[in-house]
Amino acid sequence: MEIKERESELVKKINPDSVPGHVAIIMDGNGRWAVEKGLPRHEGHRQGVETVRETVRNSSALGIKILTLFAFSTENWQRPVREVNYLMSLPEIYFQSELPELMRNNVQIRLIGDRTRLPRKVQKAVYDGIEATRNNSGMILNIALNYGSRTEIIMAVNRLIDEKTEGKFKGEVDEKMFSGYLYTAGIADPDLLIRTSGEKRISNFLLWQLAYSELWFTDVLWPDFSKVHLLEAVYGFQQRKRSYGKV
Ligand code: FPP
Repeated sequence: MEIKERESELVKKINPDSVPGHVAIIMDGNGRWAVEKGLPRHEGHRQGVETVRETVRNSSALGIKILTLFAFSTENWQRPVREVNYLMSLPEIYFQSELPELMRNNVQIRLIGDRTRLPRKVQKAVYDGIEATRNNSGMILNIALNYGSRTEIIMAVNRLIDEKTEGKFKGEVDEKMFSGYLYTAGIADPDLLIRTSGEKRISNFLLWQLAYSELWFTDVLWPDFSKVHLLEAVYGFQQRKRSYGKV
């Protein structure tokens, strides 16, 4: 079946009233995509940014309320310096070229992760993007940059200990309160996690927040992930029965 036909078939099947509110994506397979084509690894990341553009556009059009993208993990610093530098140039490239469209589509940019360790120019690019889109009320585009979930949890625990010691709150910490100390404070947990490239791991991504998310793994490499693959994931999500431990 032609891709366009498959897309329109899926669009007809998808229930617009139960699109996942929050979709998180582990964008994996850029390196393999490039190597398969005899290209340097950074070409995979370059193409990966094109997929980000398309996915943001398609997610917003589908009515997804929050899209969280894993762009750089706390472990990614261990890659060769040239690759790290290339990855660090991407937020600036993306925000500069996409800002007019993000504004037109009413998308609000947010960041999760430890921004203090990011190079100054990346911090500025991200800060400018967040500021420019602060009052947008459409889809939240949540970029995970220098993000690691265990670090996030430990940071929350340490803040809670400090505040408890300072007498800022009394009593025990519950789940709701704990969530408020994470980078994702105020943002609903993901309904759907997508990971591309055939890997079936969570890789230190949103460990707390993914407790009840539906997981969708596809063999498609991130640079090849297109509208039809997003629609398949959303339709697949709609076929799942979410019981949250109940019957
Ligand atoms: C994993 O593929 C991908 C990354 C580490 C980087 C993902 C980043 C982008 C797609 C662009 C980010 C865009 C913005 C707007 C900041 P890999 O290199 O681990 O692939 P491999 O497993 O095939 O080697």
